[in-house]
Amino acid sequence: MVSESFPRPAIARPEVLGLRMSQIREVANEGMARADVLKFWVGESDQPTPDFIREATARALMAGETYYTHNLGRPDLRDALSAYLGRLHGRPFGAERLAITSSGVNALMLVSQAVVSPGDKVVVTTPAWPNIVEIPRILSARLQTVALDPAQGRWRLDLDKLMDALTPDTKALFLNSPNNPTGWTLPAQDRAPILERCRKYGIWLITDDPYERLIFGQGTSAPSFLPLADEDERVVSTNTFSKAWRMTGWRMGWMVLPRSLVDSMGVVIEYNTSCAPDFIQSGAIAALNDGEPHIAALRAELTAAKDQVLSGLRAIPGIEAPEPEGGMYAFFRIAGRGDSLALAKDMIAKAGMGLAPGSAFGPEGDGWLRWCFANRPEKNALGLERLAAYLSH
Ligand SMILES: Cc1ncc(COP(=O)(O)O)c(C=O)c1O
Repeated sequence: MVSESFPRPAIARPEVLGLRMSQIREVANEGMARADVLKFWVGESDQPTPDFIREATARALMAGETYYTHNLGRPDLRDALSAYLGRLHGRPFGAERLAITSSGVNALMLVSQAVVSPGDKVVVTTPAWPNIVEIPRILSARLQTVALDPAQGRWRLDLDKLMDALTPDTKALFLNSPNNPTGWTLPAQDRAPILERCRKYGIWLITDDPYERLIFGQGTSAPSFLPLADEDERVVSTNTFSKAWRMTGWRMGWMVLPRSLVDSMGVVIEYNTSCAPDFIQSGAIAALNDGEPHIAALRAELTAAKDQVLSGLRAIPGIEAPEPEGGMYAFFRIAGRGDSLALAKDMIAKAGMGLAPGSAFGPEGDGWLRWCFANRPEKNALGLERLAAYLSH
């Protein structure tokens, strides 16, 4: 018998076996092969990366930029990033505090590997993008969640609830604002008390900031901890080129680190990916140096798409759709329709509508659905029509 020859089964360790399967993937697998399904389940634009970025990258590739680079990224990219961050946040960030990563999710994994030990308590607000929750789990951390609440048409973080969770034994707080999936955005005035609490107990504050440029209000960026934090304290910002520059398939991201963590991060990167791809770093330089007109146009498009989808949803009887303050998603629920995974699958089968089930973002998200609205208006309009028709039957 096989079990006698191999008493230890050829399977992953318990932490990996305990990871949740992505329910977004589960829904996508049902609808992916069908050309008639409108796909709103993934977090990306239906438009490709802007030409100026693709051209710069193609030139770099043809010029032979095909080698390993520094663990922390090429110096010219780190300089361009330093200048970009300085413009955005109004204070200097030395290139020596920056690390280039192979995507935003890679940045989250790297920083977690660098600071989270097995058994550590990690606090995450929910609903949350699944990876933020599962990465600490891979590392055998203990997770405590703090739920955002929908109130008066917006998502809110109850600061007292968060403070209660931030105890002296907490190792790290992961904060994602603007939040995927809800669009909740941390109010500027909440930063100081959170930072103060993290300082008091030595908690790593890890802010996951991919949507910081994609806000629907005033200003050039969502409220950030970077302008407030000292350069040697336990504050890390993870980010990505995926969203603001429409570069999801490129797998490029970055981190802003305390100086005291940079050398260790170089070592952690060495044993994960060793470095980000060479020629793609040239594309990232073009994105940072010349990307502002693109980002302004994208923001205008996303704002129009948000208004279109949110007002369309609210016109359908029984739908509650809180106002997102940033990001590219509508997170809404339908009265009387509780099980969001079953509902999302049924919508694919019967209406050709591909939405992400809210339960993919934690138990607090069950009963909700996520719609990525970063699409041309015609596609969003057709989705609204199909949803209304599905619910009228
Ligand atoms: C909240 C959040 N963080 C990080 C990422 C990482 O993006 P990427 O791995 O494409 O850089 C995403 C992508 O959807 C996200 O939604």
